[in-house]
Amino acid sequence: MLAELRATGKPIVGSVAGFTTAEYVALAQAYAQAEVQMVELNLSNPMLPCNRHGSCDLAAVDEVLTAVRAIVRTPLAVKLPALSEGAVEDAVESLRRHRIEVFVCNTPQLSTFVPAIGAGLDIIAVGGVSNGKDTQEALGRGAKAVQIGSALMKEGPGVFARIEQELRAERTTHATDA
Ligand SMILES: Cc1cc2nc3c(=O)[nH]c(=O)nc-3n(C[C@H](O)[C@H](O)[C@H](O)COP(=O)(O)O)c2cc1C
Repeated sequence: MLAELRATGKPIVGSVAGFTTAEYVALAQAYAQAEVQMVELNLSNPMLPCNRHGSCDLAAVDEVLTAVRAIVRTPLAVKLPALSEGAVEDAVESLRRHRIEVFVCNTPQLSTFVPAIGAGLDIIAVGGVSNGKDTQEALGRGAKAVQIGSALMKEGPGVFARIEQELRAERTTHATDA
């Protein structure tokens, strides 16, 4: 599958989730050896140790990031479980300390994270993005890219061309309005 993906000329992001820190390290290392452009550490699945009953366990996050960073040189993206307002500063500090390149942010939390993160760390918005308008909104709120799950499952890979076309139309409309 990697060979097929490489043939598209697009950057490849390998997404990993593990039940233990050792599993995160092994999976991230496997993607790094396959020379993907980025590894996403999905720490947000409700079954994973970083997600304690729906909220983020930053000590567990720190353990995974320390262990993966020690082994893997590939740029890292991190997707965290929901965070209370009070935990945002500590989460951002942890992402910075581990030199994480990309934060995968729940779309509704963009307005909290964009100002807290500032420059130096790119944000991908995830959740509820299914058309050009959603994409334009997320980009306008500070995301550098969006992640698309449900719409891809529903429509298949054609979803990307549709959204790209809608995004172009959104931009043309806004340029005309201005
Ligand atoms: C079929 C499917 C399976 C998913 N499985 C997982 C999963 O196992 N763990 C997880 O954290 N997120 C999972 N997600 C969530 C996606 O990673 C992503 O956060 C979400 O789909 C993005 O929001 P959207 O569906 O509104 O685009 C899944 C999504 C879909 C559609």
